[in-house]
Amino acid sequence: MDRIRIIGGNQLNGVIPISGAKNAALPLLIASLLTEETLILENVPRLADVAQLKRILSNHGTDIMTAGKQPGDDEFAGETLHISAKNIVDTTAPYDLVSTMRASFWVIGPLLARMHEAKVSLPGGCAIGTRPVDLFLMALEKLGAELTLDAGYVIAKAPGGLKGAVITFPKVTVGATHVAMMAATLASGTTVLENAAREPEVVDLADCLIAMGAKITGAGTSTITIEGVKALHGARHSVVPDRIEAGTYAMAVAMTGGEVLLQGAKRAHLDVALKAVEASGTTIVETDKGLLVTRLAGDITPVSVTTEPFPGFPTDLQAQFMALMTKASGNSVISETIFENRFMHVQELARFGAKIAPEGIHAHVKGVSVLKGAPVMATDLRASVSLVIAALVAEGESTIHRVYHLDRGFERLEDKLRACGANIERVRG
Ligand code: UD1
Repeated sequence: MDRIRIIGGNQLNGVIPISGAKNAALPLLIASLLTEETLILENVPRLADVAQLKRILSNHGTDIMTAGKQPGDDEFAGETLHISAKNIVDTTAPYDLVSTMRASFWVIGPLLARMHEAKVSLPGGCAIGTRPVDLFLMALEKLGAELTLDAGYVIAKAPGGLKGAVITFPKVTVGATHVAMMAATLASGTTVLENAAREPEVVDLADCLIAMGAKITGAGTSTITIEGVKALHGARHSVVPDRIEAGTYAMAVAMTGGEVLLQGAKRAHLDVALKAVEASGTTIVETDKGLLVTRLAGDITPVSVTTEPFPGFPTDLQAQFMALMTKASGNSVISETIFENRFMHVQELARFGAKIAPEGIHAHVKGVSVLKGAPVMATDLRASVSLVIAALVAEGESTIHRVYHLDRGFERLEDKLRACGANIERVRG
């Protein structure tokens, strides 16, 4: 298994191109199942999760053509995929394919909407809490689906097609908002999603669906209205920049010091997280090329944050911000309200000498002046990158094991950081 070796102490200076967002690319690929025509997606990140979803879509009978790099393309330019789900040959998403990635469960929405049936294994994904699917099932039942659970599979049927409905989510959920929005595009009549997720990835999916002929208003607010249409058509769409990748590198620069341009990143997508980074003593300026992040000197000021649905502080940046706070000049509290078991990085950060005391949904962080290099283990996607952030300033050498977690969501992380001066390398095998 690959490892990442880092020798801490170097500042970061230069340019980091921000890739297309994993969390937008996944639902966008899945949306291809809604139409017989070809969906062309640009700026798709090269990630293990995307590769896994391609396997799942292929199993349903989807043809995916990857266009190669064009002359003049940036070194880190994303892929262009031509996805054609002309003939859906299989409406089952089997356990072997679905169990490694939670988002693959989302195929249930388009399959049910277009084929009026689906059999989808209950999902897997990062071990960050129980992550139930009750709200997906509630939404699909409201749309008229008949659901049964059998041997780890959800069997969904909608003879005659789905029907528009008012769906009120008791809790904000990104995944169930994506699925309900996709399913409702082909339902008869009007669907209203209340207390819908407002994340930029939801807006990106809505924009793509609209380009495919869907009638959707309100994406980006908590009420989304979808007027069903008979069929969707092909379209061309470019994936939004990854706000979590951008926030992660902003926190890395806040940790190491230096000046980095996060090319393509947009402030409006992560304003609350950037305000927390700024409060820690870092300057962030939005330019027409992206976000310029600068920390030249001085202590890291302690800042407490609480994760919340968008536009609040994202749970996907919680571990990274905690890593930054381990070197702050005082105490902070990091509170996690979205997932119940998302502090697995605490014990790994402790190996660097970080002082963190978890207490229920809170982690009390006591800043220390020195972190020391150590062997550590990646436990989930975002937690693993928090270990990279700590290792970048830890004295001496650190080795991060189980890098496959990182490869699920960060495109060529070591190349991007090395280009900015980090002493980082991947050790194969
Ligand atoms: C998505 C993101 C993930 C991010 C999360 C929250 C993708 C591929 N993943 O995950 O990176 O951390 O949003 O921003 O986009 N819940 C239920 N019942 C359900 C569904 C969800 O109780 O049926 C709960 C979850 O356990 C969690 C909360 O709702 O406590 C939010 O989960 P949700 O927004 O659905 O997360 P995902 O869509 O899985």
